[in-house]
Amino acid sequence: MDKVILAYSGGLDTSVAIKWLKEKYNMDVITLTADIGNVADLEAIRQKALNLGAMKAFVIDARESFVNSFVFPALKANAIYEGQYPLATALGRPLIAQLLVETAKKENALAVAHGCTGKGNDQVRFDVSVAALAPELRIIAPAREWNMTREQTIEYAQSHNIPVPITAASPYSIDQNLWGRSIECGVLEDPWTEPPDDVFVWTKSPKETPDEADYITIGFDEGTPISIDGQRLNGVVLIQQVHEIACKHGVGRIDHVENRLVGIKSREIYEAPAAFVLTKAHQALEAITLSKDQLRFNNIVAGEYADLVYNGLWFSRLRQDLATYVDSSQRYVTGEVKVKLYKGNCQVVGRKSPYSLYDYTLATYDKGDAFDQSASPGFIHIWGLSLRTESKAQRLKPPE
Ligand code: ARG
Repeated sequence: MDKVILAYSGGLDTSVAIKWLKEKYNMDVITLTADIGNVADLEAIRQKALNLGAMKAFVIDARESFVNSFVFPALKANAIYEGQYPLATALGRPLIAQLLVETAKKENALAVAHGCTGKGNDQVRFDVSVAALAPELRIIAPAREWNMTREQTIEYAQSHNIPVPITAASPYSIDQNLWGRSIECGVLEDPWTEPPDDVFVWTKSPKETPDEADYITIGFDEGTPISIDGQRLNGVVLIQQVHEIACKHGVGRIDHVENRLVGIKSREIYEAPAAFVLTKAHQALEAITLSKDQLRFNNIVAGEYADLVYNGLWFSRLRQDLATYVDSSQRYVTGEVKVKLYKGNCQVVGRKSPYSLYDYTLATYDKGDAFDQSASPGFIHIWGLSLRTESKAQRLKPPE
């Protein structure tokens, strides 16, 4: 029998997909569950796949690769989609696609499968990434093909002895990994409705956050976070620690109406505590270590980079080349940033770097001032020349 590797979350849709793939395609199903952080019980997921008839069930701890090859490169680029979404799901998909492809090769499978519907971005990211890495593989997306409503999916599950998790009763569609959590559907589909409390499960509501602020100092080496309060940490652990303290102070809630690649505007709630804090800190360090022109240009790169990631083009040459530029631009982004977490806010309150371009003797209004004020009139004379010329010829006036 032909084999198919299914990206398996343990949820309702991918559980139904195990049976459905056997029934409809008559294929042996091998499941692959990638641990990219914040998954509950991996062994239970593995057992569930086997119980539902998967021929093999792999669980892969991919947290290190996720952080080092996907999350940190995006952080260095300050990649935030539409200025709001730190791209947690969008960064995870190409990695899962890569693992599907690797497993398909090892297992001699002809196809890979995922549980995405036909309305979202994730189908695009999976399909495009798999096609980029292994064009010969067939891609099956059961939930895009079977045309069942949620009720019908539940009925199918019940008639096939597939346990319907209590979470299937949750009105929300959720995806999460170590970089963030997204919540859609239910009452959130009305963009006027404030997200109810039960939407947030990571971050504390400001009502419940401590009355005392916490301060942490994040150390960066060439744009990559490497330490908290002077203690060197591996990336996964560092993100976890930032996550915990940010959640405690209710930091990282995002409410955004987002433009999907497939043309739909959708209302998205995110919890992205670690991404929020680390991006702010990274930007603050760049503010003292990069020139004005670098900052302006990197901002353009950040927007392009985020769009490529969001739109499923992680493996494109352009994304890779931008990453090379970003790495090079981060050569002096080394130093420390102090942030204050308090009542839902994350504020940068200090920054320092051995390569800082901030020059006290130029900035100060106190004694020790090295700025030559007598040179300013000459500078201003030339700077304003074109405007004076315009004024002479065309009589510039304030708007009426
Ligand atoms: N809107 C976000 C994105 O496109 C989150 C998607 C979450 N995916 C999901 N299957 N619930 O990246």
